[in-house]
Amino acid sequence: MTKILDGRALAAQLRARLATEVARLRASTGVVPGLRVLLIGEHPASLAYVRTKERAAREVGIDGRIERLPATIEEGALLARLAELNEDPSVHGVLVQLPLPAHIDPERILAAIDPRKDVDGFHPLNAGRLAQLLGPPPDDLLVPCTPRGCLLLLEEALGGLQALRGKRALVLGRSTIVGRPMAALLLAYDATVTIAHSRTRELAHECRRAEILIAAVGRAGLVRGDWLAPGSVVIDVGINRVALPDGTSRIVGDVAFEEAVGQVAAITPVPGGVGPMTVACLLDNTLRACRAQLARNGRIRS
Ligand code: GUN
Repeated sequence: MTKILDGRALAAQLRARLATEVARLRASTGVVPGLRVLLIGEHPASLAYVRTKERAAREVGIDGRIERLPATIEEGALLARLAELNEDPSVHGVLVQLPLPAHIDPERILAAIDPRKDVDGFHPLNAGRLAQLLGPPPDDLLVPCTPRGCLLLLEEALGGLQALRGKRALVLGRSTIVGRPMAALLLAYDATVTIAHSRTRELAHECRRAEILIAAVGRAGLVRGDWLAPGSVVIDVGINRVALPDGTSRIVGDVAFEEAVGQVAAITPVPGGVGPMTVACLLDNTLRACRAQLARNGRIRS
């Protein structure tokens, strides 16, 4: 029996808890957490993602707003806007949607966000703290949203994160958004972590050894059913649009889902697995950032 991990339901639970906490914070301090999502240019998938983030923020009582800027904006103008948002006390979280137009250096942009408002967790200070972590992340550490969402799904699958101790975990993909922070989190919980990537030899063999598999490479159905260890837990981060013979298309993950079912102990579906958790974790980070900023200003006790 394979457990299908319902990310939509788990994310709805998390959002419900956040809505209660946001309402309580507002009642006790008068402060509404503020989130600004900057979208530069017209990338259609990015537009869909930022609209989802804005809507989800509003549903839990966070003042989420998209700021659209032209693809032609100069790097200096974007840095100037970030400096204003860093100074704005009504804004507690700032996110610059990636990818950026080619003339803008993402490293420079991400490093210009106040690390205390860095709800994506991509600032080098936050990434560095995560890389050194042993044990659960402290409340004030902003951890990247997709890896945090994967961790919550693993907690659900395993009945607690202590079960990660000593487990062989394989992370497929070495991106700074998912693969690397995911590996750091698994390591913090004492898993034995391997990171595989496009140059890894004998990928199928690596997968078969894994008790925990996180697939985040962006290649539809790359991981086949016979690559998976019986009884393993599989978290599929892939979001790949594939064309169907009838001219329509659908979204699939990096794992051949139908082949995996029956083989593994638990797996996330695509869609409806990691995606909703990523958005819910962004809201969680926004509330964490807001609380930390209020505590620093003496408005609430930390
Ligand atoms: N593009 C794809 N995923 C992400 C993400 O998690 N954050 C941002 N800012 N951009 C992305």
